[in-house]
Amino acid sequence: MTSSKKLLITIDGPAGAGKSTVSKLLARKLGYIYLDTGAMYRAVAVLARDNEHSGPLDESTLEEICLGLDLEFVQKDGKLRLLANGRDVTEEIRQPEISSLASAVSAKAIVRERLSGLQRKMGKAGGVVLEGRDMGTVVFPEAEVKFFLDASPEVRSKRRFLELEAEGESTTVEEVHQLMLARDRNDSNRQLAPLKPAEDAILVDSTDLQIGEVVQLMLDHIEAVSKEHNVTTWKKRKTD
Ligand code: DC
Repeated sequence: MTSSKKLLITIDGPAGAGKSTVSKLLARKLGYIYLDTGAMYRAVAVLARDNEHSGPLDESTLEEICLGLDLEFVQKDGKLRLLANGRDVTEEIRQPEISSLASAVSAKAIVRERLSGLQRKMGKAGGVVLEGRDMGTVVFPEAEVKFFLDASPEVRSKRRFLELEAEGESTTVEEVHQLMLARDRNDSNRQLAPLKPAEDAILVDSTDLQIGEVVQLMLDHIEAVSKEHNVTTWKKRKTD
């Protein structure tokens, strides 16, 4: 017998490992919601950057931002957009400067507390693929399915460079590589919720794998877990 219970699926890992692409594809296949928690930290960074008086990392500035924070993911013209206090920050959050600032604000306790709380609310009903750094370790330690997606730093930098190039950013692979290494160091060495695999996470190395191969091996694992939990995850469509 199957039940209507839906799973919580977490995908953690460093920048450029392919988390966003894989998470979106998995969510679509499963008919689940996709939650990009990195975008939430990036939105706080955008709001913090606007504070010219005391600087973006000032504790009272961040506290004020977090207290009044309203984040909403909305579908518009078939695309997911992020509104921060009603302002559309979808494009702004992808600026390279915001990547580094998001990493810095994410080390602050007030920011982690506020965003973790919002993420728990958004994901608690299940039927969601959550992408981030601490989804399986801190925010949803009870998730039924946890992946840690990684790849070599060289491959991750190359992928991120190609993405930025396609968006029209003028940069080099070396510059992207250095910024990525710095961000990895920040995210992995911070005191609160550092980037690391949950003890019960499945480690997936995407260095030599195509996106489709990563998605397939994850789906195989999800199907096995679904059987254990008596859950119907997805029905194969004719086009799949
Ligand atoms: O996944 P991303 O590159 O969009 O994330 C931007 C930054 O946000 C990342 O460098 C660290 C932080 N982050 C975090 O601390 N915890 C998460 N769950 C997601 C992102």
